[in-house]
Amino acid sequence: MFVESSPAWAERVAATLPTGGWEITPHDYGTRVGDGLAVVGHSLPAAVTSRTWDVILVDGPRGVDADDPGRVVPIRAAAKLAKRDGWRMFVHDCDQPLEQAAYPHFFDREPARAYDRTWAYGADHDPPL
Ligand SMILES: C[S@@+](CC[C@H](N)C(=O)[O-])C[C@H]1O[C@@H](n2cnc3c(N)ncnc32)[C@H](O)[C@@H]1O
Repeated sequence: MFVESSPAWAERVAATLPTGGWEITPHDYGTRVGDGLAVVGHSLPAAVTSRTWDVILVDGPRGVDADDPGRVVPIRAAAKLAKRDGWRMFVHDCDQPLEQAAYPHFFDREPARAYDRTWAYGADHDPPL
């Protein structure tokens, strides 16, 4: 499942994917980069939170400029889901200031691994990443 805030990007991605086996869930995360770590009142849709995931990758929304949709809501939500489900979670663009601030705010541990601009988290009982 892809959770996507940009209808234009969703259309573009859909055109590149094979038929079947995936879905795009449109969702406005509700916060901008300039909002910082404020997430009150925002979450992911039930279509995401009601299911169990083996792997979660946060690589959106764009999250670059102050008025872009920001990644704090998906990072917080992914952290909750990952902890609940026994997890593997990756966050790309972890070098961005808001991502740097969000990690220690929403996680209780350091990333298990850093691959260039991607941070990886795994539960203690998981095999090494
Ligand atoms: C920033 S991109 C991921 C970039 C990736 N981390 C990289 O290094 O290439 C993630 C999100 O940005 C938004 N985005 C990127 N390019 C876009 C475009 N041309 N039009 C609309 N949205 C775009 C979409 O919401 C997409 O899910």
